Amino acid sequence: MPEPADSPSLGGRDARYLRVVDAAPMGVHLYRLEADGRLVLTGANAGADRLLGVDNAAFVGKTLEEAFPPIATTELPERYREVARTGVPWTTEVVDCRDEHIAGAFEVHAFSVGPGEVAALFLDVSARKRVELALRGSEQRYRHLVENQQDLIVEADVDGRVRFASPSYCRLFGKEESELVGQRFMPLVHAEDRGATLQALEKLFFPPHTCVVEQRAMTRDGWRWLAWSDKAVLDEHGEVASILAVGRDITAQRVMEERLRQSEKLHAIGQLAGGVAHDFNNQLTGILSAGELLARALQDNGELRELAEMIVNAAEHSTRLTRQLLAYARKGKLKTVPLDVHGTVQDVVSLLRRSIDKRIVIRQDLAAQPSSTLGDSAQLHNALLNLALNARDAMPEGGELTFATRVAELSPEHIEASRMDVTPGRYVALEVRDSGLGMDPETQAHLFEPFFTTKEVGKGSGLGLAAVYGTVQNHRGAVEVSSEPGRGTTFTLYLPLVEVEARPRGSEEAQAVEAHCRILVVDDERVVRDVLRRLLEKAGHQVVVANGASEALEIYRRSWHHLDLVIMDVMMPDMDGREALAAMRELNPNLRAVLSSGYSVDGETVLATEGVRLLQKPYALEDVTRVIAEVLASPRQLELAKG
Ligand SMILES: Nc1ncnc2c1ncn2[C@@H]1O[C@H](COP(=O)(O)OP(=O)(O)OP(=O)(O)O)[C@@H](O)[C@H]1O
Ligand SMILES: [Mg+2]
Repeated sequence: MPEPADSPSLGGRDARYLRVVDAAPMGVHLYRLEADGRLVLTGANAGADRLLGVDNAAFVGKTLEEAFPPIATTELPERYREVARTGVPWTTEVVDCRDEHIAGAFEVHAFSVGPGEVAALFLDVSARKRVELALRGSEQRYRHLVENQQDLIVEADVDGRVRFASPSYCRLFGKEESELVGQRFMPLVHAEDRGATLQALEKLFFPPHTCVVEQRAMTRDGWRWLAWSDKAVLDEHGEVASILAVGRDITAQRVMEERLRQSEKLHAIGQLAGGVAHDFNNQLTGILSAGELLARALQDNGELRELAEMIVNAAEHSTRLTRQLLAYARKGKLKTVPLDVHGTVQDVVSLLRRSIDKRIVIRQDLAAQPSSTLGDSAQLHNALLNLALNARDAMPEGGELTFATRVAELSPEHIEASRMDVTPGRYVALEVRDSGLGMDPETQAHLFEPFFTTKEVGKGSGLGLAAVYGTVQNHRGAVEVSSEPGRGTTFTLYLPLVEVEARPRGSEEAQAVEAHCRILVVDDERVVRDVLRRLLEKAGHQVVVANGASEALEIYRRSWHHLDLVIMDVMMPDMDGREALAAMRELNPNLRAVLSSGYSVDGETVLATEGVRLLQKPYALEDVTRVIAEVLASPRQLELAKG
């Protein structure tokens, strides 16, 4: 260390110290504070030369400002003066100095070594600073990643207390990170999902220290489904130090799945119900018709006739039930004609005015224009009646029942939001509103399931809304419900709008025809054949029966010119009735026929052939006579629109 003459001698005392100071990997500057405030460099060690890359000896005797301009612009000169004045040492971790001669980051320790004398000891920390900067950069990148993540990121300790929560997590729960940190997350989890969550978390304590769990959590927007994928962070002993969890809101996906499950369930029940109703219908047809014949035959025996009428009544009641079931199973579709929804509403309203409690005020607000849809007015009538009767039951003390219509444009967004299963477009929205008891969410969740009822045994079968559901599906529409306990209920049916004039009602009424015909009856069910034969014979017709399509075809081939009409079941084991019909038509293009079924007959396809009518089982005597009359009365003029 060069030693100016006036420096307080360090080296004079012990040369070894000098060597140490020169060899040390740090720089040393010695300054003296002059009375005029100048800091004059009085010495420097070899380390200072190495660190600063300059020959410090050349600057001895100069002021700090003259010697080291880059240092002069830092806080150092002021600090050194203070140390010289007060004798209180001063330290800083990093000072940046930069010009063409000196460049680096320095850790500086300044201390007094005599009155007005300051020693400044400095270390080059540029490398450390570079590492720190790099670290800070990578930290910032990670923070950026985490903070801009849609997924939820949480770190919790082994007790389940939050240590870190990502902004997406804070947003979802509507809380500041400071409110969440230190709090347990479990209270936010739905009570029913806590068991599963705990079970999953236990896995974190064993290799591979990961787990997944789906749970509901109480967020700012209420209960949401969250899917988590967790990983344990292990300490150096292999113990779980904390839990890192990445989560995602899967509510929409869950809702879709649930909707699918629900619609599959309803579909499956529909299949089942449809199958049962079909077979049951065949039997009912027999019971009903036989009962009616019996009642007629016993005209003169009051007591026995009453019994027969009881059979008929019971069969009719069962018929109503199976009809509901079939409507639900979407198996009862017979007609697809343009119809005016307002006409059907008015029919239902006039029926209700005659029959329900006078304390229920019925209002109509029929604003839809146009108000036509393509469908089956009988089914629609039945659906409205079901809704109205439910409304009546919900208003035991009376109230208001409103039927309202309007044209609704269903946008994809609306359909998505209200979870309907329809295509976007224009619909007739038909509301049935009551001011009754309303329903809780639990009831609403099961509303359309067949056999779901909250009514006493014997009061409700739980088929009303199931039938409404099926009918609406049949019409390619949708049904929405909004209700609250104590605040009434509104059902809204959406039926696809058709822009055509509906036919005036009543035109489909058939005129009775007093013809006596030769009729071929084809059905694989014996009871149906027998009853139908008797019935037709009673009405004065001649009847030939066949137990299946093959036999029928044979008879028809032999003697079609003697036959006026064929009544045939659609579903037969050996051949579909429609196929048999087509084969017969080859023989006789003017064939006139009635197809009967306890199942679905696709109205559009069958009706497209002229001279054919459809008859849904079970049917009452008058249905049969009416349909026969219709077919015979206008053999070649039946068009699609006549349904
Ligand atoms: N307008 C309404 N107000 C309140 N609750 C209703 C309303 N409509 C239906 N519900 C509830 O939905 C349930 C199912 O109705 P649904 O019509 O399917 O069967 P039901 O009326 O009980 O029996 P059914 O119609 O076969 O005689 C009812 O039991 C009732 O709890
Ligand atoms: Mg009902």
